[in-house]
Amino acid sequence: MSSVRAKVVRLADAEAVSAAAARDFVALSRDAVAARGSFTVALSGGSTPRRLYQLLAEAPYRSEVAWERVEFFWGDERAVPPDHPDSNYRMAAVALLEKIGAAADRIHRIQAERADRDAAARHYQLEIARVFGVNPDGPPPALDLVLLGMGPDGHTASLFPHTAALREGRGWVMTHFVERLGAERITLTVPVLNRAREIRFLVAGSDKAATLRAVLEGPRDPERLPSQLIRPEAGRLVWLVDRAAAAELGTVEGRV
Ligand code: 6PG
Repeated sequence: MSSVRAKVVRLADAEAVSAAAARDFVALSRDAVAARGSFTVALSGGSTPRRLYQLLAEAPYRSEVAWERVEFFWGDERAVPPDHPDSNYRMAAVALLEKIGAAADRIHRIQAERADRDAAARHYQLEIARVFGVNPDGPPPALDLVLLGMGPDGHTASLFPHTAALREGRGWVMTHFVERLGAERITLTVPVLNRAREIRFLVAGSDKAATLRAVLEGPRDPERLPSQLIRPEAGRLVWLVDRAAAAELGTVEGRV
């Protein structure tokens, strides 16, 4: 089994997944601020989390988060400028950051528009280290929350099947050309993702059903299914999945 420590929470639809994630975001932010004075979160891209970001910007969630204590990071970024429709930063900025008036010095985006993307990856690693006050060449710090999505091919963040990024064991951030996309991506690596205190996968839609089953219940094959690499060292992993995505799962564990 690939994910014995993962909890799977089945929800009715994508809206319920977003609401469950919003409740978790609020609760985890409170705990983190109480314990450490800040809440460090890596946002995910793609389309699924947009509704979560919209919800967080609205009542009742908006007033329940100490936004001035939240440090925003991203799990991955596409090689486009920050005002491009494909930018993961832009999606979160429009849906959430601009609405809550997030302070610029708490927004730590990946500068994937830079021509030298290795320099952009290094810059992002230095920025993470600066915010956490740790050595940029040492072990990665623990984010309070990492939000992730899963593609129908089993990728997560920009960790795509059969790419060298899956095997990066030291760097926290990596840039690579993804053949199947014909494009470059910058991504957090497995070691930093698995250091997180809390990880939430948000998965919705029937096009994810077969892959979700393979990732959670199939044989371990992370080269083909990179989402299987997500196994927090000491943190908690929860999959928030809608009924359509969960349709092929064989277990009822975690049902709500
Ligand atoms: C990205 C991602 C990626 C995403 C999945 C799921 O930049 O594309 O961060 O890993 O989370 O592809 O995307 P959807 O939510 O759109 O299905």
